Amino acid sequence: METMEKIQEQLRANGQEQLLQWYGDLTEEQKQHLMEDIAKIDYSVIREAMKPAGAPAGVISQAPVMTRPMILKNQEEYRTKGLAALKRGEVAAVLLAGGQGSRLGFDHPKGCLNVGLTRELYLFQILLANLQDTVNLTGTYMHMYIMTSELNYQETVDFFEEHAYFGYPQSYIHFFVQDMAPSLDHEGRILLERKDHISMTPNGNGGWFSSLRRQGLLEQIKQNGIQWLNVFSVDNVLQRIGDPVFLGAVLSEQALAGAKVIAKVNPEEKVGAICLRDGRPSVVEYSELTEEMRNERDASGAYKYYYGVTLNYLFNVEATEQRAMHRMPVHRANKKIACLNAQGETMLPAEPNGYKLETFIFDILEFFDKVTAFEVEREKEFAPIKNRTGADSLDTARELLRKNRPEWGEL
Ligand code: UD1
Repeated sequence: METMEKIQEQLRANGQEQLLQWYGDLTEEQKQHLMEDIAKIDYSVIREAMKPAGAPAGVISQAPVMTRPMILKNQEEYRTKGLAALKRGEVAAVLLAGGQGSRLGFDHPKGCLNVGLTRELYLFQILLANLQDTVNLTGTYMHMYIMTSELNYQETVDFFEEHAYFGYPQSYIHFFVQDMAPSLDHEGRILLERKDHISMTPNGNGGWFSSLRRQGLLEQIKQNGIQWLNVFSVDNVLQRIGDPVFLGAVLSEQALAGAKVIAKVNPEEKVGAICLRDGRPSVVEYSELTEEMRNERDASGAYKYYYGVTLNYLFNVEATEQRAMHRMPVHRANKKIACLNAQGETMLPAEPNGYKLETFIFDILEFFDKVTAFEVEREKEFAPIKNRTGADSLDTARELLRKNRPEWGEL
């Protein structure tokens, strides 16, 4: 443990002395707790996050996309290739479920959301049913790795236990925990949530691979002969898991990564835009896409950044391990963050008061020479639940579930 003087010096050098503002009020145990939090801070991440925001870095241009007509032409060949790899047990699923679901105002892990109207039909349950579809097709069970955050780990595990893993063999389901990052005020000062506790939030979905590795699961993956990871979000009820045609397309293109994309409904749709950055595969997140870029058109009059990622990726295990050495950029999101007021009481502000720091899964794509951007049909594969009502809500997801799952009857 560093000496108190050393810690104070470090905090001063990094402009973070406010963390000791309430130190005098703390018990010995609380002091210890705060010191442990402080010892974990990576100041270089904070410096990077506080760089002035502006247009996305690098030269952004249009990316090639494997469109529906192109896929349909080779569909059978792709399916055969993908099915063979799935049957050999070379593919595992990674479910990203560490997010906080704050837009939905749901105070539990998002996967515990009940989509059913007349019965229980949880997001996790639907994803397991989608996974089971692939197992039925291939006759081979797929392992599924579920990323949670420290905040929702126990509740997620308990939920699966209570529901008997929704009928999926428990030995094929593995949980792991992602890292947390400190929250900052608008000047880059770390916020305290309590006098002895730094405000920390999950560090974004970009940490999935390093967390998987740190918790020893990468070794298990390799020992099981798994070569591909299909990584996807928790919120899409039409999420296709282990799609043989997608895998076959990536294999045929001899790419080591793939991203499912959809044609946007309009330039404003909140999906990350697939593109090239300095000639390399990349995504610009919707929150960072400038107005000008959103509306930019190519020579034929089509929107340049017309395709958005659905958050369903394929990654070759070995290639990802090599590329995961690279440092991921840190993004900041302006949010309402619980912190201490002048009296030292925890409060949730009415307006955004600071930044949550996140890394994004797609930032690793730039380290791949080639990424297959694979177009899917929105009506069949994209029904995310982001909001309570309106677009991308429970209502729209139910409507698309009814169309795609008529065998489920009344929801
Ligand atoms: C996300 C994508 C966006 C894509 C859209 C499609 C990212 C950064 N953004 O946007 O490009 O077009 O979905 O619907 O990939 N998560 C974690 N840990 C975290 C944060 C998030 O596991 O710390 C998980 C969430 O549980 C969720 C997924 O990542 O499964 C997406 O997170 P969310 O913050 O909801 O991203 P969107 O803004 O919807």
